[in-house]
Amino acid sequence: MGLPEERGRTGSREQEEAGAQSRVQSWSPPPEVTRSAHVPSLQRYRELHRRSVEEPREFWGDIAKEFYWKTSCPGPFLQYNFDVTKGKIFIEWMKGATTNICYNVLDRIVHEKKLGDKIAFYWEGNEPEETTQITYRELLMQVCRFSNVLQKQGIRKGDRVAIYMPMIPELVVAMLACARLGALHSIVFAGFSAESLCERILDSSCSLLITTDAFYRGEKLVNLKELADEALEKCREKGFPVRCCIVVKHLGRAEMGTSDSPSQSPPIKRPCPDVQGVVHTVGGYMLYVATTFKYVFDFHPEDVFWCTADIGWITGHSYVTYGPLANGATSVLFEGIPTYPDVSRLWSIVDKYKVTKFYTAPTAIRLLMKFGDEPVTRHSRASLQVLGTVGEPINPEAWLWYHRVVGAQRCSIVDTFWQTETGGHMLTPLPGATPMKPGSATFPFFGVSPAILNESGEELEGEAEGYLVFKQPWPGIMRTVYGNHERFEATYFKKFPGYYVTGDGCRRDQDGYYWITGRIDDMLNVSGHLLSTAEVESALVEHEAIAEAAVVGHPHPVKGECLYCFVTLCDGYIFSPTLIEELKKQIREKIGPIATPDYIQNAPGLPKTRSGKIMRRVLRKIAQNDHDLGDTSTVADPTVISQLFNHRCLTIQ
Ligand code: PRX
Repeated sequence: MGLPEERGRTGSREQEEAGAQSRVQSWSPPPEVTRSAHVPSLQRYRELHRRSVEEPREFWGDIAKEFYWKTSCPGPFLQYNFDVTKGKIFIEWMKGATTNICYNVLDRIVHEKKLGDKIAFYWEGNEPEETTQITYRELLMQVCRFSNVLQKQGIRKGDRVAIYMPMIPELVVAMLACARLGALHSIVFAGFSAESLCERILDSSCSLLITTDAFYRGEKLVNLKELADEALEKCREKGFPVRCCIVVKHLGRAEMGTSDSPSQSPPIKRPCPDVQGVVHTVGGYMLYVATTFKYVFDFHPEDVFWCTADIGWITGHSYVTYGPLANGATSVLFEGIPTYPDVSRLWSIVDKYKVTKFYTAPTAIRLLMKFGDEPVTRHSRASLQVLGTVGEPINPEAWLWYHRVVGAQRCSIVDTFWQTETGGHMLTPLPGATPMKPGSATFPFFGVSPAILNESGEELEGEAEGYLVFKQPWPGIMRTVYGNHERFEATYFKKFPGYYVTGDGCRRDQDGYYWITGRIDDMLNVSGHLLSTAEVESALVEHEAIAEAAVVGHPHPVKGECLYCFVTLCDGYIFSPTLIEELKKQIREKIGPIATPDYIQNAPGLPKTRSGKIMRRVLRKIAQNDHDLGDTSTVADPTVISQLFNHRCLTIQ
């Protein structure tokens, strides 16, 4: 996993608009969820939160006791400096303690918690009838075997291993086998090209690659081994031969590895970074993902959890692999896509495994909304209790659909704001405690102390809007950028000394709720008025014909910047001058005349990163007919770009 992909989203909004969203209806946590919740009231949340930020050493120290430490922390539990003017930025939780994350998520669960027979993963393949399951004991066994294979191939503590595999159990086995040996896994999403794989192998000088023969993604056959071969050839050409490549025969479903007898490797001594790019540490990351998983999804032993993210992204690392396993949870691991064999696939899987807690991205929700309610309501979904979202601000329209249709108005929605750099959730409701407001990530998680700053770096109190920052470290915070500490300090700590700067804009309403307005660097400035793209996009998506919208700034001789909107229509609607007029009217009414778009373009598809973020940088170029797009290697479907160039709006509408 490298540095986060492109982040699209925006900044501020007009002052007089502040408060508009805060007056939206709020939803109490469902009584069925509250009844058994770890945190059953807002008051209890506040007490725990206060203790977690006032006494972080004691709070996290108590949690650390539940884990296995080979040697405990000899010195102070927490030391840090967040202020560049006072010297080097550093964050040290439990300095000197030693552990192994694989041991904690497998051996500890099997031997101490006696959960060896519990199912760790229900695996659901691309085809609905292709399924398998794996218990904690079996997983441990396979991981031990495979770590032996890796060891025989010369992999030692600190070596880097690239993993390029689809969402199959062997991917989890491979990553945990690396962690067991103290090797660093660099997991490259299997949708990436040979070129991208080669770059990532070179970036972290991986000495070994683990890949798969081939897999189906929907109807498409992906010959992964061919791509891997191409990448290895490129690496060779660049003077970096990868020593060994292990291929898992997936379509043949052959056994992985060649080692015969299972044996256990000893726990590894020292915490080590597990990613290239953003550097996390084993101890802090483990505590944080385990704790956020427990509270944010209100985990109970009988739960069946399902996070749809690919393991190649941080969400998959934290909430497919490490967080659930550290809690001894049963999860679904899904290889396929939400639209194959039909658009009700997710809900049929929910029913099949009786999923209780479900976690996905707003982009998936908007995609499925387009097809109406029936594909959802066709299935019972009676097992669902908590529905999560992550990745970008969820527009209230999508939130309400998720709540009303998917959750049948009886589930808690947890809109979790966090970043690759934060390791786990930062702002989020707790399902049994927090009254929800559609579109707000609500309140800080335990140990998180947010503030909103103005341009001069002053902390704003009460209702306010500005830069979202964090005032003190939480255990999951990244420690540095791999090989480039200066960049770490410059990116996250220089702008406002004393604070970790998220790069996101944020508003706090009169009830203290936090509303992410989007990435600061994507702000719109129309005639001197700052507008948030999230807000304009929300207003567009509220129209029944619009499934998804992306708004970018466009040069304008008078206004400085005007709004250029890309809209994707729901099935069965036609793009017409009447629709354009209706959309403009809607924005005027919801936000004000200042936000009236000058251009609205029909966009059958939007350029997105493979993790689903809209690439506004590319859209800005399309609006300006500028074909110099820079690096587009992270675009999931490049064909949408030429399609959008061909249908640009040429005149103001
Ligand atoms: O802009 C915020 C947005 O996604 C960014 C982090 O992206 P990445 O590191 O790829 O991590 C994605 C998985 C955590 C943030 O800076 N973002 C993420 N979650 C939300 C969000 N914006 C609003 N609401 C969210 N729930």
